Amino acid sequence: MSRRVNVLYDAKTIAARNAELAEEIAASQPERLLAIVVLKGSFVFAADLIRALHEAGLAPEIEFLSLSSYLDGTVSSGTVRIVHDIESEVGGRDVLLIDDILESGRTLAYAKDLLAARGARRVETCVLLEKPGKRAVTIGADYVGFQCPDYFVVGYGMDVAHAYRQLPFVGVVEVDDGQT
Ligand code: IMP
Ligand code: MG
Repeated sequence: MSRRVNVLYDAKTIAARNAELAEEIAASQPERLLAIVVLKGSFVFAADLIRALHEAGLAPEIEFLSLSSYLDGTVSSGTVRIVHDIESEVGGRDVLLIDDILESGRTLAYAKDLLAARGARRVETCVLLEKPGKRAVTIGADYVGFQCPDYFVVGYGMDVAHAYRQLPFVGVVEVDDGQT
């Protein structure tokens, strides 16, 4: 069985969008900005976005938060737990949560509530992709790279069964089992 990955957003398109997102974020004039990278899927996006933020004149501190949703078969049960927590104090600070995909919204809603409960002054969210029509909880991202069609995407940090994170573009896996 061979698998081809069809390009959905190429590296050049993503880089251009990252620069626009960074300008939008800078325009909100964050103070004592703490960028929190929600692992693992957003690590490539975050690395590029953070450098775009520098070009836009910002100097955020960076932290990493790893969350996991319990799986019930292939469907997320909705319970989120902290796998790796941040180390900085967030009291009174402006926080930017960076994630790969906003789908059900459970992960980002959990992270947003967590940081707000710890006393952040402002919590904004930035996602590379938003899949509309899949939301289980009411949350929108403040900054969205692309409205993504309802495909399972990989690459640019995102995986299926731990594969494809290294691809420099966002793509869709095509399954060709040789039967057609
Ligand atoms: P949710 O918004 O809590 O449902 O969580 C979205 C998370 O599910 C993302 O951060 C990804 O880690 C994962 N995810 C959702 N859709 C995809 C996809 O198409 N490819 C890879 N990961 C995905
Ligand atoms: Mg994720």
